[in-house]
Amino acid sequence: MVTSQLRCLVALGQAQHLGRAAQASEVSPLELTQAIHALEQEYGHPLVKPGARFEGFTPQGEQVLAWARAFLHDTEALRHELQATRKDDAIAPLLERRSVSPKRLRAPGPGAEHIDLILQAALRAPDHGGLHPWRVLEFREGQRAALADRFEEEKRRRDPLASSTDLRRAREHATRPPVLLAFVVVPRARSRVPAREQWLSAGAALGNLLNAAHQLGYGAIVLSGERCFDPVLSAELGIGPEEFLAGFVSLGSVAEAPPARHSHVLPGQVWSAWTPPAAAPGTPKPRAATAMNLDIAGGKT
Ligand SMILES: Cc1cc2nc3c(=O)[nH]c(=O)nc-3n(C[C@H](O)[C@H](O)[C@H](O)COP(=O)(O)O)c2cc1C
Repeated sequence: MVTSQLRCLVALGQAQHLGRAAQASEVSPLELTQAIHALEQEYGHPLVKPGARFEGFTPQGEQVLAWARAFLHDTEALRHELQATRKDDAIAPLLERRSVSPKRLRAPGPGAEHIDLILQAALRAPDHGGLHPWRVLEFREGQRAALADRFEEEKRRRDPLASSTDLRRAREHATRPPVLLAFVVVPRARSRVPAREQWLSAGAALGNLLNAAHQLGYGAIVLSGERCFDPVLSAELGIGPEEFLAGFVSLGSVAEAPPARHSHVLPGQVWSAWTPPAAAPGTPKPRAATAMNLDIAGGKT
């Protein structure tokens, strides 16, 4: 009960308008006002400035609002952490996936059969126009030394004063991962699908690829770094001028689990419920907007 009242308070803090806050909280304006009054009783202070319309919070209201935001954030974080530990949950593999740095990977990586499955999963990502605007390049064991030479040369181009340690590290990016792929974005220039949607399709494919690897029990990570922006290296890898080297995907068995996540971004931080902006008095409603509002109201019943 208190949590739902705090949600109303936080919604009011966000919308700065009683009606819109009520809509966002999926309560009536009266219920929202009652929730705020209940909190005022609980904390023994007026939380909003007096007036028929919302005119802002009192200093105590601001204090309670800040506390309520932190409380709801922590409550959500706890709920999500507990949810992620429910192994029977159908989406547990998606909730658990973590990137595993090449240092924490060991052989064996996925073999040809598993790479094929991983690519099938990538090809099942949403893809406007079915363009698969991406491709994958595998660097097999026999070619790693040659790739390491290219990585070292790229590092020298970028930093002529690179130390021997820097150059060794650059080489290790090519030699360390048990399996190494390049993920290349290939926007289809002659398509009617906008480039930005093609990039999103490619990103969705990359996400599926990582999730598939995780579900097959492998660790994986995408790393780009400066070398992905080097045109000489791209050309050496056979990547055309209209293509983009998005990153290198390292895959392998997990030798050591990655460290615990420090920041926990919650769905509420990327979510909001749309409410129509208040029309200026006397502004006629555009027809399309009216139809859109009816659709939304219809969809909710
Ligand atoms: C295209 C792409 C390139 C990336 N390049 C780098 C990189 O060069 N260095 C890095 O530290 N992380 C890079 N990342 C982020 C990591 O792959 C990883 O997602 C991040 O460390 C968060 O870990 P998580 O996947 O476990 O949440 C890249 C991610 C993507 C999608």
